[in-house]
Amino acid sequence: MRILVTGGAGYIGSHTVRALIEHGLEPIVLDDLSRGHREFIPEGIKFFERSILDTEFITEVLVREKIEGVIHFAALSNIGEDSRIPLKYYSVNVGGSVSLLSAISAAGVKRIVVSSSAAVYGLAKKDVIHEEDECAPVSIYGETKLIMENCLRACSNQKYSWMALRYFNAAGAAEDGKIGEKHNPETHLIPLALKAVMGSGNPLTIFGTDHPTPDGTPIRDYVHVDDLAEAHVAAILSKESGVVNLGTGSGNSVKDVLDLIEEITGTKVPMLIGTRRAGDPPKLVASFDRAFQILKWKPRKDIRKIILSAWNWEQS
Ligand code: UFG
Repeated sequence: MRILVTGGAGYIGSHTVRALIEHGLEPIVLDDLSRGHREFIPEGIKFFERSILDTEFITEVLVREKIEGVIHFAALSNIGEDSRIPLKYYSVNVGGSVSLLSAISAAGVKRIVVSSSAAVYGLAKKDVIHEEDECAPVSIYGETKLIMENCLRACSNQKYSWMALRYFNAAGAAEDGKIGEKHNPETHLIPLALKAVMGSGNPLTIFGTDHPTPDGTPIRDYVHVDDLAEAHVAAILSKESGVVNLGTGSGNSVKDVLDLIEEITGTKVPMLIGTRRAGDPPKLVASFDRAFQILKWKPRKDIRKIILSAWNWEQS
Protein backbone atom coordinates (compact mmCIF):
# COMPACT_ATOMS: atom_id res chain seq x y z
CA MET A 1 0.00 0.00 0.00
CA ARG A 2 1.44 3.35 -1.06
CA ILE A 3 1.16 6.16 1.48
CA LEU A 4 1.96 9.84 0.92
CA VAL A 5 3.50 11.27 4.10
CA THR A 6 3.41 15.07 4.16
CA GLY A 7 5.97 16.49 6.59
CA GLY A 8 7.77 13.14 6.50
CA ALA A 9 11.15 14.82 7.11
CA GLY A 10 9.99 16.21 10.46
CA TYR A 11 10.16 14.75 13.95
CA ILE A 12 7.08 12.50 14.20
CA GLY A 13 6.81 12.19 10.41
CA SER A 14 10.28 10.65 10.00
CA HIS A 15 9.71 8.10 12.77
CA THR A 16 6.40 7.19 11.10
CA VAL A 17 8.08 6.73 7.71
CA ARG A 18 10.39 4.18 9.33
CA ALA A 19 7.46 2.39 11.01
CA LEU A 20 5.54 2.22 7.71
CA ILE A 21 8.56 0.61 6.02
CA GLU A 22 8.92 -1.88 8.89
CA HIS A 23 5.27 -2.87 8.39
CA GLY A 24 5.78 -3.48 4.66
CA LEU A 25 3.98 -0.33 3.50
CA GLU A 26 5.43 2.06 0.90
CA PRO A 27 5.85 5.66 2.08
CA ILE A 28 6.49 8.55 -0.30
CA VAL A 29 7.50 11.83 1.37
CA LEU A 30 6.41 15.39 0.56
CA ASP A 31 8.09 18.10 2.66
CA ASP A 32 9.18 21.66 1.93
CA LEU A 33 12.12 21.26 4.35
CA SER A 34 11.22 24.55 6.06
CA ARG A 35 11.28 22.66 9.36
CA GLY A 36 12.16 19.11 8.31
CA HIS A 37 15.55 17.53 7.68
CA ARG A 38 16.50 15.87 4.39
CA GLU A 39 18.80 13.45 6.22
CA PHE A 40 15.83 12.10 8.25
CA ILE A 41 14.34 10.49 5.11
CA PRO A 42 15.68 6.94 4.62
CA GLU A 43 17.69 6.27 1.47
CA GLY A 44 15.66 4.92 -1.43
CA ILE A 45 12.42 6.59 -0.32
CA LYS A 46 10.85 8.80 -2.99
CA PHE A 47 10.88 12.45 -1.88
CA PHE A 48 9.23 15.60 -3.23
CA GLU A 49 10.45 18.95 -1.90
CA ARG A 50 7.19 20.89 -2.21
CA SER A 51 4.84 23.08 -0.24
CA ILE A 52 1.62 21.61 1.13
CA LEU A 53 -0.09 24.60 -0.51
CA ASP A 54 0.71 23.30 -4.01
CA THR A 55 -2.63 21.54 -4.59
CA GLU A 56 -2.08 20.90 -8.27
CA PHE A 57 1.29 19.23 -7.77
CA ILE A 58 -0.03 17.09 -4.89
CA THR A 59 -3.04 15.97 -6.94
CA GLU A 60 -0.68 14.91 -9.71
CA VAL A 61 1.51 12.95 -7.28
CA LEU A 62 -1.51 11.21 -5.72
CA VAL A 63 -2.73 10.07 -9.13
CA ARG A 64 0.64 9.26 -10.73
CA GLU A 65 1.99 7.36 -7.72
CA LYS A 66 -1.31 5.50 -7.17
CA ILE A 67 -1.46 6.66 -3.55
CA GLU A 68 -4.04 4.81 -1.41
CA GLY A 69 -3.67 6.72 1.85
CA VAL A 70 -2.24 10.02 3.13
CA ILE A 71 -0.69 10.80 6.51
CA HIS A 72 -0.57 14.55 7.00
CA PHE A 73 2.08 16.00 9.34
CA ALA A 74 3.14 19.09 7.39
CA ALA A 75 2.37 21.98 9.75
CA LEU A 76 3.88 24.63 12.01
CA SER A 77 3.79 23.64 15.67
CA ASN A 78 5.66 26.14 17.79
CA ILE A 79 3.47 27.62 20.51
CA GLY A 80 4.82 31.12 21.08
CA GLU A 81 5.77 31.61 17.44
CA ASP A 82 2.09 31.10 16.54
CA SER A 83 1.04 34.33 18.25
CA ARG A 84 3.88 36.27 16.60
CA ILE A 85 3.05 35.12 13.05
CA PRO A 86 -0.60 34.03 13.26
CA LEU A 87 -1.36 34.40 9.55
CA LYS A 88 1.46 32.02 8.67
CA TYR A 89 -0.06 29.45 11.06
CA TYR A 90 -3.53 29.81 9.55
CA SER A 91 -2.05 29.66 6.08
CA VAL A 92 0.12 26.54 6.55
CA ASN A 93 -1.99 24.61 9.07
CA VAL A 94 -5.50 25.46 7.87
CA GLY A 95 -4.77 26.47 4.25
CA GLY A 96 -2.38 23.50 3.88
CA SER A 97 -5.02 21.06 5.12
CA VAL A 98 -7.63 22.56 2.77
CA SER A 99 -5.15 22.27 -0.11
CA LEU A 100 -4.45 18.63 0.72
CA LEU A 101 -8.15 17.78 1.11
CA SER A 102 -8.86 19.33 -2.29
CA ALA A 103 -6.12 17.19 -3.83
CA ILE A 104 -7.42 14.06 -2.10
CA SER A 105 -10.96 14.68 -3.32
CA ALA A 106 -9.74 15.33 -6.86
CA ALA A 107 -7.58 12.20 -6.88
CA GLY A 108 -10.16 9.99 -5.12
CA VAL A 109 -7.91 8.91 -2.22
CA LYS A 110 -10.01 7.04 0.33
CA ARG A 111 -8.06 7.37 3.60
CA ILE A 112 -6.42 10.26 5.44
CA VAL A 113 -4.80 10.40 8.89
CA VAL A 114 -3.78 13.79 10.29
CA SER A 115 -1.65 15.14 13.16
CA SER A 116 -3.70 16.88 15.76
CA SER A 117 -2.77 17.87 19.29
CA ALA A 118 -3.76 18.02 22.93
CA ALA A 119 -3.58 21.76 22.32
CA VAL A 120 -7.18 21.55 20.99
CA TYR A 121 -8.42 21.02 24.57
CA GLY A 122 -6.91 24.22 25.97
CA LEU A 123 -6.97 24.49 29.77
CA ALA A 124 -8.28 21.04 30.60
CA LYS A 125 -10.85 20.90 33.37
CA LYS A 126 -10.44 17.19 34.04
CA ASP A 127 -7.63 15.08 35.44
CA VAL A 128 -7.69 12.71 32.48
CA ILE A 129 -8.89 13.97 29.10
CA HIS A 130 -11.29 12.03 26.86
CA GLU A 131 -12.00 12.84 23.22
CA GLU A 132 -15.55 14.00 23.90
CA ASP A 133 -14.35 16.61 26.42
CA GLU A 134 -14.74 20.26 25.53
CA CYS A 135 -12.30 21.72 22.99
CA ALA A 136 -11.36 25.30 23.82
CA PRO A 137 -7.86 25.96 22.50
CA VAL A 138 -5.88 28.78 24.10
CA SER A 139 -3.22 28.98 21.39
CA ILE A 140 -3.48 29.80 17.71
CA TYR A 141 -1.67 26.53 17.02
CA GLY A 142 -4.40 24.61 18.90
CA GLU A 143 -7.09 26.55 17.10
CA THR A 144 -5.63 25.77 13.67
CA LYS A 145 -5.60 22.06 14.55
CA LEU A 146 -9.24 22.19 15.68
CA ILE A 147 -10.26 23.97 12.45
CA MET A 148 -8.43 21.27 10.49
CA GLU A 149 -10.39 18.55 12.34
CA ASN A 150 -13.68 20.38 11.68
CA CYS A 151 -12.77 20.70 8.04
CA LEU A 152 -12.13 16.97 7.71
CA ARG A 153 -15.44 16.19 9.40
CA ALA A 154 -17.37 18.64 7.23
CA CYS A 155 -15.82 17.64 3.92
CA SER A 156 -15.57 13.87 4.20
CA ASN A 157 -19.15 13.30 3.01
CA GLN A 158 -18.35 9.59 2.73
CA LYS A 159 -15.79 10.21 -0.02
CA TYR A 160 -12.97 9.33 2.33
CA SER A 161 -12.56 8.10 5.88
CA TRP A 162 -10.38 10.12 8.23
CA MET A 163 -8.72 10.06 11.62
CA ALA A 164 -7.18 12.93 13.58
CA LEU A 165 -4.61 11.80 16.14
CA ARG A 166 -4.37 14.16 19.10
CA TYR A 167 -0.83 13.80 20.45
CA PHE A 168 -0.01 14.71 23.99
CA ASN A 169 3.73 15.38 24.62
CA ALA A 170 5.71 13.62 21.89
CA ALA A 171 9.22 12.87 23.13
CA GLY A 172 12.16 10.47 22.77
CA ALA A 173 14.02 9.27 19.69
CA ALA A 174 14.67 6.22 17.54
CA GLU A 175 16.60 3.45 19.33
CA ASP A 176 19.51 3.61 16.85
CA GLY A 177 20.04 7.32 17.61
CA LYS A 178 19.89 8.24 13.89
CA ILE A 179 16.75 10.38 14.05
CA GLY A 180 15.23 12.33 16.93
CA GLU A 181 13.90 15.68 18.09
CA LYS A 182 15.55 18.57 16.23
CA HIS A 183 13.62 21.82 16.27
CA ASN A 184 14.98 25.27 15.56
CA PRO A 185 14.49 27.01 17.90
CA GLU A 186 14.06 24.19 20.42
CA THR A 187 11.35 24.93 22.99
CA HIS A 188 10.58 21.50 24.49
CA LEU A 189 11.48 20.46 28.00
CA ILE A 190 13.42 17.21 27.47
CA PRO A 191 15.78 18.31 24.65
CA LEU A 192 16.41 21.65 26.38
CA ALA A 193 17.25 19.95 29.69
CA LEU A 194 19.57 17.45 27.95
CA LYS A 195 21.34 20.24 26.03
CA ALA A 196 21.81 22.08 29.35
CA VAL A 197 23.36 18.91 30.84
CA MET A 198 25.74 18.64 27.87
CA GLY A 199 26.69 22.30 28.17
CA SER A 200 25.56 22.91 24.58
CA GLY A 201 22.57 25.01 25.63
CA ASN A 202 21.58 27.57 28.23
CA PRO A 203 20.60 26.52 31.75
CA LEU A 204 17.00 25.30 31.75
CA THR A 205 14.41 27.77 33.02
CA ILE A 206 11.58 26.08 34.92
CA PHE A 207 8.44 27.96 33.95
CA GLY A 208 6.95 28.42 37.41
CA THR A 209 6.86 26.37 40.60
CA ASP A 210 3.53 27.78 41.77
CA HIS A 211 1.16 25.75 39.59
CA PRO A 212 -1.73 23.93 41.32
CA THR A 213 0.04 20.53 41.24
CA PRO A 214 1.67 18.52 44.07
CA ASP A 215 5.21 19.85 43.44
CA GLY A 216 4.14 23.15 41.86
CA THR A 217 5.35 22.31 38.33
CA PRO A 218 3.05 21.36 35.42
CA ILE A 219 2.21 17.74 34.68
CA ARG A 220 2.35 16.38 31.12
CA ASP A 221 1.72 13.05 29.45
CA TYR A 222 4.99 12.21 27.64
CA VAL A 223 4.53 9.64 24.88
CA HIS A 224 7.39 8.01 22.96
CA VAL A 225 7.65 9.07 19.32
CA ASP A 226 8.04 5.41 18.25
CA ASP A 227 4.72 4.61 19.96
CA LEU A 228 3.14 7.53 18.08
CA ALA A 229 4.59 6.16 14.83
CA GLU A 230 3.01 2.75 15.48
CA ALA A 231 -0.36 4.44 16.06
CA HIS A 232 -0.13 6.06 12.61
CA VAL A 233 0.43 2.69 10.98
CA ALA A 234 -2.64 1.28 12.74
CA ALA A 235 -4.66 4.40 11.86
CA ILE A 236 -3.85 4.37 8.15
CA LEU A 237 -4.88 0.70 7.96
CA SER A 238 -8.16 1.34 9.81
CA LYS A 239 -11.36 2.56 8.12
CA GLU A 240 -12.81 4.27 11.19
CA SER A 241 -13.33 8.03 11.23
CA GLY A 242 -12.96 10.40 14.19
CA VAL A 243 -10.58 11.90 16.71
CA VAL A 244 -8.30 9.77 18.87
CA ASN A 245 -6.03 10.76 21.80
CA LEU A 246 -2.49 9.42 21.89
CA GLY A 247 -1.00 9.52 25.36
CA THR A 248 -0.08 7.11 28.12
CA GLY A 249 -2.76 7.81 30.74
CA SER A 250 -0.21 8.97 33.28
CA GLY A 251 1.64 12.21 33.84
CA ASN A 252 5.00 13.47 35.05
CA SER A 253 5.74 16.89 36.44
CA VAL A 254 8.61 19.04 35.17
CA LYS A 255 10.44 18.21 38.41
CA ASP A 256 9.87 14.44 37.91
CA VAL A 257 11.38 14.71 34.42
CA LEU A 258 14.39 16.71 35.61
CA ASP A 259 15.04 14.27 38.50
CA LEU A 260 15.00 11.36 36.07
CA ILE A 261 17.31 13.18 33.65
CA GLU A 262 19.78 13.75 36.50
CA GLU A 263 19.60 10.06 37.47
CA ILE A 264 20.07 8.82 33.88
CA THR A 265 22.83 11.24 32.88
CA GLY A 266 24.51 11.29 36.29
CA THR A 267 24.71 15.09 35.98
CA LYS A 268 22.88 17.98 37.66
CA VAL A 269 20.68 19.88 35.19
CA PRO A 270 21.82 23.53 35.25
CA MET A 271 18.55 25.33 35.94
CA LEU A 272 16.86 28.57 36.97
CA ILE A 273 13.39 29.09 38.39
CA GLY A 274 11.39 31.41 36.15
CA THR A 275 7.80 32.57 36.01
CA ARG A 276 4.85 30.78 34.42
CA ARG A 277 4.72 30.63 30.62
CA ALA A 278 1.51 32.12 29.24
CA GLY A 279 -1.09 29.49 28.32
CA ASP A 280 0.63 26.56 30.10
CA PRO A 281 -2.13 24.36 31.58
CA PRO A 282 -1.22 22.81 34.96
CA LYS A 283 -2.07 19.27 33.90
CA LEU A 284 -2.64 17.47 30.58
CA VAL A 285 -3.03 13.70 30.71
CA ALA A 286 -4.79 11.59 28.06
CA SER A 287 -7.16 8.71 28.24
CA PHE A 288 -6.05 6.33 25.47
CA ASP A 289 -9.09 4.04 25.83
CA ARG A 290 -10.40 4.96 22.38
CA ALA A 291 -7.01 4.34 20.73
CA PHE A 292 -6.98 0.92 22.35
CA GLN A 293 -10.56 0.14 21.31
CA ILE A 294 -10.32 1.32 17.71
CA LEU A 295 -6.66 0.83 16.86
CA LYS A 296 -5.65 -1.82 19.41
CA TRP A 297 -2.90 0.65 20.27
CA LYS A 298 -1.26 1.11 23.60
CA PRO A 299 1.98 2.86 24.54
CA ARG A 300 4.92 0.52 25.16
CA LYS A 301 7.73 2.86 26.19
CA ASP A 302 7.66 4.66 29.54
CA ILE A 303 9.24 7.96 30.57
CA ARG A 304 12.56 6.27 31.43
CA LYS A 305 12.82 4.82 27.90
CA ILE A 306 11.85 8.21 26.48
CA ILE A 307 14.68 9.97 28.31
CA LEU A 308 17.22 7.21 27.61
CA SER A 309 16.50 7.36 23.87
CA ALA A 310 16.52 11.19 23.83
CA TRP A 311 19.86 11.18 25.70
CA ASN A 312 21.29 8.70 23.19
CA TRP A 313 20.10 10.93 20.31
CA GLU A 314 21.48 14.17 21.83
CA GLN A 315 24.87 12.54 22.34
CA SER A 316 25.02 11.19 18.81
N1 UFG B 1 8.98 23.77 30.36
C1 UFG B 1 9.82 24.45 31.23
N2 UFG B 1 10.91 25.05 30.68
C2 UFG B 1 11.22 25.00 29.35
C3 UFG B 1 10.35 24.28 28.49
C4 UFG B 1 9.23 23.69 29.04
O1 UFG B 1 9.59 24.54 32.43
O2 UFG B 1 12.22 25.58 28.94
C5 UFG B 1 7.79 23.12 30.92
C6 UFG B 1 6.51 23.71 30.37
O3 UFG B 1 6.06 24.76 31.21
C7 UFG B 1 5.56 22.51 30.42
C8 UFG B 1 6.47 21.30 30.26
O4 UFG B 1 7.80 21.78 30.53
O5 UFG B 1 4.96 22.42 31.66
C9 UFG B 1 6.45 20.73 28.86
O6 UFG B 1 6.67 21.80 27.94
P1 UFG B 1 6.95 21.55 26.39
O7 UFG B 1 7.25 22.88 25.82
O8 UFG B 1 7.95 20.47 26.24
O9 UFG B 1 5.58 20.98 25.87
P2 UFG B 1 4.11 21.60 25.97
O10 UFG B 1 3.37 20.81 26.99
O11 UFG B 1 4.14 23.06 26.16
O12 UFG B 1 3.60 21.39 24.51
C10 UFG B 1 3.18 20.15 24.04
C11 UFG B 1 3.49 19.99 22.56
C12 UFG B 1 2.70 20.98 21.77
C13 UFG B 1 1.24 20.82 22.10
C14 UFG B 1 1.04 20.97 23.58
C15 UFG B 1 -0.38 20.71 23.96
O13 UFG B 1 4.86 20.16 22.32
O14 UFG B 1 2.87 20.75 20.39
O15 UFG B 1 1.83 20.01 24.28
O16 UFG B 1 -0.69 21.47 25.06
F1 UFG B 1 0.52 21.75 21.47
